[in-house]
Amino acid sequence: MDTIKRRYDISPYYEGWFQLGWSRDLARGQLKKVRQFGTTYTMFRGEDGIVGVIDDICPHLGAHFSEGGCVRGNAVRCPYHNWSFARDGRCVDIPYSTKIPVKARVVGHTVAERDDMIFMYRSANGGPPKTPLPRIENFDASEFCAPERYEFSIRIHGQDIMENSVDGPHFMAVHRHSLPEFVFREDQGSLRVSQQMSVARFGTTIDFRLEFHLVEPGFHYVHFPKLPGTTALVFSSIVPIDEEYTSHRMTFFVKKTSVPGWSQVVRRFLIWQMMKTYREDMRIWENKEYQSHPVLCDGDGSIIKLRRWFAGFLDPKEPALPGPTRLPISSGVG
Ligand code: FES
Ligand SMILES: [Fe+2]
Repeated sequence: MDTIKRRYDISPYYEGWFQLGWSRDLARGQLKKVRQFGTTYTMFRGEDGIVGVIDDICPHLGAHFSEGGCVRGNAVRCPYHNWSFARDGRCVDIPYSTKIPVKARVVGHTVAERDDMIFMYRSANGGPPKTPLPRIENFDASEFCAPERYEFSIRIHGQDIMENSVDGPHFMAVHRHSLPEFVFREDQGSLRVSQQMSVARFGTTIDFRLEFHLVEPGFHYVHFPKLPGTTALVFSSIVPIDEEYTSHRMTFFVKKTSVPGWSQVVRRFLIWQMMKTYREDMRIWENKEYQSHPVLCDGDGSIIKLRRWFAGFLDPKEPALPGPTRLPISSGVG
């Protein structure tokens, strides 16, 4: 049998805090299946309002909690024989037995909620978080309009998505912008990137300044400090789905202004602009080959800086597998 080469020779999975969804989409007593990191999880909100994320497969006879299970109190009840599991993964109830086996537990993951987003910490060995959930600097959600959310499933490794945002020459070739000027700074394990560029739109030229703060692959954001009459922030989380596909969740915040409706105008423009560039990138992303040793010229310096930073989060390398595997997913905008 032929061995099919993996598309990427770097690990498909990486460590850190990852956004799994938005708080408003998970009501008290609700349960959802989440497909990430080559597996599925059950994400739920207990009757006490607190979110839990546990591994999806029941240790009893293997039913998936997310296929017909439900929330009872602050635990998930398995659909097959109604065993219940708490947020820490312990079995807390077996309706037909007075003794709960010691091994009746699944992995309960570390979860945090902030700014209308739900995050989970993921590490290769299941260890505890190395850091608390990072904070978005210079940001108070109460000063911003209700955010708009987008979610994509893309056939690409997360590193390629992040690399794209610091790949200056492609802004000219693919997006027809000016060649951006980048200023890079490493800051306690994070990357700060200032980007200045101009975009020709509506018969005029609009100057943009973007201040990226790449804290982790699953937690990064960009401030737009110089939009006309306001400022904006786009939060991003790039989460592996499996060995081929990646979720990209984006949340757009525009600061409230005293002019009625102006924030919405700016938000529409920002989203239109970003979605346009995103669609332009997507066709290339989903079909490109990963070059682990790319031939670069002196205008490509940021790519190597980005790859070095990303490598610090990748799982230890595994032996090559005989071909990619992937879960069935649907692609689209949420
Ligand atoms: S398989 Fe879950 S309770 Fe039996
Ligand atoms: Fe791009």
